[in-house]
Amino acid sequence: MSGNENGNETGNDDRPATDGGTAEGSPPTGEEEGGEESARFAPADRVESVPPSGIREFFEVAENRDDVISLGVGEPDFTAPWPARSAAIDSLERGRTSYTANRGMPALRRAISGRVTRYDQSYDPDSEVLVTTGASEAVDLAFRAFVNPGDTVALPTPTYVSYEPGVRFAGGEPLPVHTRHEDDWALTPEALREAGADEADVLVLCYPNNPTGATMDADEMDAVAAFCREHDLLVVADEIYAALTYEGDHQSVATRPGMRERTVVINGFSKAYAMTGLRLGYAMGPEAAIDAMTKVHQYAMLSAPTTAQHAALAAIERCDDEVERMRREYDRRRRYVVSRLRELGIEVSEPGGAFYAFPRVAELAPDGDARAFATELLEAEGVAAVPGTAFGAGGEGHIRISYATGLDDLKEAMARIERFLS
Ligand SMILES: Cc1ncc(COP(=O)(O)O)c(C=O)c1O
Repeated sequence: MSGNENGNETGNDDRPATDGGTAEGSPPTGEEEGGEESARFAPADRVESVPPSGIREFFEVAENRDDVISLGVGEPDFTAPWPARSAAIDSLERGRTSYTANRGMPALRRAISGRVTRYDQSYDPDSEVLVTTGASEAVDLAFRAFVNPGDTVALPTPTYVSYEPGVRFAGGEPLPVHTRHEDDWALTPEALREAGADEADVLVLCYPNNPTGATMDADEMDAVAAFCREHDLLVVADEIYAALTYEGDHQSVATRPGMRERTVVINGFSKAYAMTGLRLGYAMGPEAAIDAMTKVHQYAMLSAPTTAQHAALAAIERCDDEVERMRREYDRRRRYVVSRLRELGIEVSEPGGAFYAFPRVAELAPDGDARAFATELLEAEGVAAVPGTAFGAGGEGHIRISYATGLDDLKEAMARIERFLS
């Protein structure tokens, strides 16, 4: 912080004439002011070291055109179900505008605890559940609560864009673990070993996966769990897409023997309930884990948004049919996108969950560069898809297509891709 920020209410009268290079009494020029400001706000090294999001960067280009079909968005194209919205409105009409308990409303924690039994998860609502401002906050809390400076955090790549920055902000060292198209993007003990994750402190799992849509089957999850036990890894399992699973049942690492005690499970309302803007998620884990995360949360956030908590409670209690309707619609689109891509001769592994497909375009791209492919597709045909490298080095040669977009737009986008390739 600058030594000038001393709260002196009389202004700059006693500032030395040499301060900032301006003569006493003469107003600073914009240039000098800008220079001073950027020096004052020079980001801390751990912030400086993180590049801007590759998704944002790409979509700024798309925003300048009005004929673009965006297959880039990572959020539902549905509106939150009415019972959830109505509960939010009702809570405001009743004047429920105060903080809640730090950990979230007890009724909501009980509802969450009841809901996750469908994944064979069992957490005590009083001591093992923390309601957060989106799953994003829960991810950040997990890193801040459990990662010491210099700790190694194994991150399968490609994966969701926020983990690596989150690890760096917490002072940790991300360790990429490559998953492969050829394995349908499943994480394997071999890949973990090859990357040196046996020496890591923490492993982040994201299944169903953003950006690949990959899910893990029971045997694959057993094998990863065995690796974590053998090498004493703490696991952060981001299961925000669990309810959007199309093939088989959702597999949670926390349900494997000896894993509950070393896993924090993260979930939320943004995806399954189309509630991204309400910002509500949760973390579940052993009491000691939730206590540590609550400590950070209570200072950083106090409590998650009260209106959204009322909406979330109604979402769990009254929106199952709507969630199932949306899931079926995503599934229909998924089948369409996958079959159409394959018809066009583009390789894509079957996404078992979330709302993304991650086709391989390396052979179709100039110099195998997926970013160049995505840029040309956007420029030539106005179809925006995210280059795979936005999700880490493991995404090279691929693009992410989101099918959280209506079927008509998907059909038009596929027709344009066909034209682009011909
Ligand atoms: C894997 C994953 N985790 C977390 C989030 C963020 O969720 P929330 O809106 O609950 O903060 C996203 C959003 O795209 C995501 O894809």
